[in-house]
Amino acid sequence: MTLANETTADPIRLSDYRKPAWTVATVELDVDLGIDASEIAARLTLHRDPAQASPLRLNGEGLELLSISVDGQPLAPADYRYDGSTLEIGAARDGSVLETRVRVRPAANTALEGLYLSGPRETGFLLTQCEAEGFRHITFFPDRPDVLARFTVTLKADRERFPVLLAGGNPAGAGELPDGRHWARFVDPHPKPSYLFALVAGRLENIERDYVTGDGRKLKLVIWSEANVIDRCHYALDALERSMRWDERTYGRHYDLDVFHVVATHDFNMGAMENKGLNIFNAKYLLADPDSSTDDEYRAVEAVVAHEYFHNWTGNRVTCRDWFQLSLKEGLTVFREQQFSAEMNSPSLKRIEDVSLLRRAQFPEDAGPLAHPVRPQEYREINNFYTATVYEKGSELVRMLAGRLGTSGFRRGMDLYFERHDGQAATIEDFLSALGDANDIDLTTYLAWYAQSGTPRLHAKGLYDAHKREYTLTLSQQTHATAGQPHKQPLPIPVKLSLFGYDGKALPLHLDGHAAETEKVVVVDQATQSFVFRNVASAPVPSLLRGFSAPVVLECDYTPAELALLVTHDIDGFNRWEAGQQLATLAFENLRSTGDTAACSAWCEALSALFHNPAIDDALLADLMTPPGEIEFADRQSEVDPAKIHAQRQALQHRLAQHLGATALLDRYQALAAHTSQALDADSQARRRLKRRVLELLALLDADQAHALAAHQYQNAPGMTDRLAALGVLVRDRAPQAAAALADFRQRYADNPLALDKWFSVQAQIPGEPALATVMALENDASFTLKNPNRARALLGAFASTNPSGFHRVDGQGYRLLAERLAQLDALNPQIAARLATAFNGWQRLEPIRREAARAALKELAQREGLSPNLSEIVANVLQ
Ligand code: ARG
Ligand code: ZN
Repeated sequence: MTLANETTADPIRLSDYRKPAWTVATVELDVDLGIDASEIAARLTLHRDPAQASPLRLNGEGLELLSISVDGQPLAPADYRYDGSTLEIGAARDGSVLETRVRVRPAANTALEGLYLSGPRETGFLLTQCEAEGFRHITFFPDRPDVLARFTVTLKADRERFPVLLAGGNPAGAGELPDGRHWARFVDPHPKPSYLFALVAGRLENIERDYVTGDGRKLKLVIWSEANVIDRCHYALDALERSMRWDERTYGRHYDLDVFHVVATHDFNMGAMENKGLNIFNAKYLLADPDSSTDDEYRAVEAVVAHEYFHNWTGNRVTCRDWFQLSLKEGLTVFREQQFSAEMNSPSLKRIEDVSLLRRAQFPEDAGPLAHPVRPQEYREINNFYTATVYEKGSELVRMLAGRLGTSGFRRGMDLYFERHDGQAATIEDFLSALGDANDIDLTTYLAWYAQSGTPRLHAKGLYDAHKREYTLTLSQQTHATAGQPHKQPLPIPVKLSLFGYDGKALPLHLDGHAAETEKVVVVDQATQSFVFRNVASAPVPSLLRGFSAPVVLECDYTPAELALLVTHDIDGFNRWEAGQQLATLAFENLRSTGDTAACSAWCEALSALFHNPAIDDALLADLMTPPGEIEFADRQSEVDPAKIHAQRQALQHRLAQHLGATALLDRYQALAAHTSQALDADSQARRRLKRRVLELLALLDADQAHALAAHQYQNAPGMTDRLAALGVLVRDRAPQAAAALADFRQRYADNPLALDKWFSVQAQIPGEPALATVMALENDASFTLKNPNRARALLGAFASTNPSGFHRVDGQGYRLLAERLAQLDALNPQIAARLATAFNGWQRLEPIRREAARAALKELAQREGLSPNLSEIVANVLQ
């Protein structure tokens, strides 16, 4: 389809990659900082690839050029051309020194890319965000990840207004200047791409700790924030130290500078950024304290701190050749973080959390018009490719490789990867070769996983021959066509499996005469394959894809009794949960199609037995008692009615609550509530998680009683986990006690933006019709602003992306509200607008009335004048 203002520029293609014609050996930046205007003087020593003839072309986005010279000679206007995004210079030769001076305007930068101001202009601080292409908003440079240069950065500023001056690398001097100004210099000994450059300047406090690496380097870890939140940085500092020790222990990787700085900001487009030696964090993923952070948020802080730290090796020491290779650093680093978090907390709970996220965020992406391979073939706006596919599916691909090689084989492969590519910009092929070569295995078949989009469906069928005592398992795979990829290849799918007897015991597996373990991995790499197990005494129940051994959708015609057997007997927490999810899905689908209650009864009975089993972990029980979410249920349907799905899912939970009974629920709630510790240990977290789930189920049975308990829990909560859980129940149920609790929360956290974000989100998640009016009223709250990404996401993101029954109104008003706000937001911050617009993904599978309303809202948005390339790309793609 053609849109009035569709971007006409050609996309950037992986197949067009060429080595840079010009590289930069050293860069000296002299930055004179000011809130309204900052001046950047850059001195680059250039090298030319003799094999390429192109003139010197540098990126520079909207820069005000003050002066320019080559080899000391000022250039006349005829000697160069600058069109606002590319600077072309004829006079440069191999070895030339280019000097430029530019002016940029931090306070006017609402896109939060390049150099910008965080906070009010009187008190806020300056900082940078360069990944992916922000450096070109700061100075002229070949702004691509395969140009690695040595950086020397000198910052100059008014001492009173900017007492703290930070840049990546090692400190290399500081001093006074006339007129109350001062300077500080940083030298980074490790050549790096421009996207890893960062600076920070302003009034900041710090906490610090000495650290000695396993290989004997003494350094300082320093966390910086504005004064009023510095007390909330201690948890992150501990998490940083744990991450560093873990990477030393697990991968033999040590930190490599004299100081590691981490800075918190409330104004950030993403979660955090791994700038060399100067990580910058969205405060949401750095600050934590019991009064304002939930247990989940503590774990998220630990995970993101680890993720950014791990990038120092997977991302910084070995970086990406081009942005198509983004998953080389992101998928791998997510995987490393998942391994770390699993070790720090409960492995099965972590796996449950990650697989749920994959299903909620990545599967729908892979099933609709935004589908793209983990390594895309082309893009227009790279910032639109920081997706669940590149990150979470990318991590699943690394997990499959790691599983194939085993713990020591994977470590060998990683060692070789670092040995070969340290200081380089690498590709996914390089990664697979290193892993393969270190183990004498050819892993190139896995490249197909990086190139093919769409979630494979794995169909399983078992046949038992009692006479031969043989069980034949036939596995077939199929991937539906996705945008731009009509034909799909079979992929290598590792299927970890066990067979259970009807007594609930795992059977020894006799496959091709191999030894008889009870768990085995088979790899399905054809369209259809059969595996014959011998010596099987009776018809078994297969437990497939254990630990979620591949990112696929499993289709297996289990009977309810078979799934119930797995829920009851599987000793592995993840698989037990997974069987419960499958049984809940069967129950849900049977109830809505034929009204058949057999699966529902089996689900309720299996869960009821676990509910009364003291051996089971409270957190796992809470997750077991939570059916798949509305988005996951919708993902399986072709004509989605989100209001119906909400009602049907509630009905399913109501049956579970009824089966457990009000008395048992209440007793359990009270037993759990007797523990008032707000400690963060696994047992305390688990009790809070189960307490919330029990309260939610009780609210379905006896609303008055549950609301009274919730109001009491709200008032007496020792920490945010219990407080927010109680508030959630009251608000979602629109209980009479909700208004008072909300007013209290609003006042209590008036000066705490991260806590206040939760106040917005919890209200944006009210199910059904009332959500829209609530959201619109909240837009008028004095503390609401589209300028702050966290706040915009807390209200509009929570509404559009996490509240299907509220957003997908049959009258289309949810869609029109979002479209309107996207247009407004786009004028301020295109990255955030584009991200929020993905909430429209999946509109083609809505029932006809909503589908038409969504299409109309999207079309109207697409036709507006002057949309950013970011938002236009998402809207155009989602519309097709
Ligand atoms: N590399 C960052 C991470 O750790 C993400 C930053 C991406 N930023 C952006 N504007 N696209 O995941
Ligand atoms: Zn990352």
